[in-house]
Amino acid sequence: MSDASDYIEARIPVWPTVAVVLGSGLGAFADTLTEPAVIPYNEIPGWPQSTAIGHAGKVVVGLLDGMPVAALSGRVHLYEGYTAKQVAFGIQTLGLLDVVSIVLTNAAGGVNPDYKPGQLVLISDHINLLGQNPLTGPNDENLGPRFPDMSEAYLKRYREIAREAGKDMGMDLAQGVYAAVPGPNYETPAEIRYLRTIGADLVGMSTVPETIAANHMGLKVLGISCVTNPAAGVTDKKLDHKEVLETGERVKDSMIELLRRVLPRLQQ
Ligand code: HPA
Repeated sequence: MSDASDYIEARIPVWPTVAVVLGSGLGAFADTLTEPAVIPYNEIPGWPQSTAIGHAGKVVVGLLDGMPVAALSGRVHLYEGYTAKQVAFGIQTLGLLDVVSIVLTNAAGGVNPDYKPGQLVLISDHINLLGQNPLTGPNDENLGPRFPDMSEAYLKRYREIAREAGKDMGMDLAQGVYAAVPGPNYETPAEIRYLRTIGADLVGMSTVPETIAANHMGLKVLGISCVTNPAAGVTDKKLDHKEVLETGERVKDSMIELLRRVLPRLQQ
């Protein structure tokens, strides 16, 4: 991890304090950063390579309206065969680079029947159903405590900032609980009913290992889901990854605009 952060540090002209992880179909944000240093994941020592369609696989450090930002374009998932520890590697590397705020974006299924495809939802909390944890094993005391607190894993203040930014764009951003499942299959309708019963509004296959690792290091987290589809059984329609990507594509401009408005406000 420190090899990775040393490698990145040697190649970036500015020090970002804010980082954003871009989920499926949302990589376009990284291309809007100016004066970018682009570092492909496959050049960085120890960095796991992403294989999913729609995930480019590079760290971009550049300026957003003059503010240094790090963007992780593409992430790895448990369903690719990676462990939660490998999934969290990027976040821990950014934490070592003195990033203090992390924005995690993802595509999610709407478990809450009120959610419409294309809607952006702020993650208020999560349920880890991955059966794995990035902090399993000996604790690295340099990163954080053995038993980290998770009682405000997604900072309330950041959600308020994001809601304000959404309001400025004419969006009333809902907040919901994200359940992380390993995938790669989409859920059964019975699984979705179960998730709704235990309090989930959103379901997806990412984000939770990153949030756990970030909280472990004392980083502040904002999570934003793009609801790409009603979850299984919410409507009669079958689920299709192509549609997930298409919906991500359709709303990417509003996600990018929201990020542009939110990121500068997280510094305070
Ligand atoms: N389930 C799990 N992950 C997802 C979904 C879904 O319905 N949509 C996008 N990511």
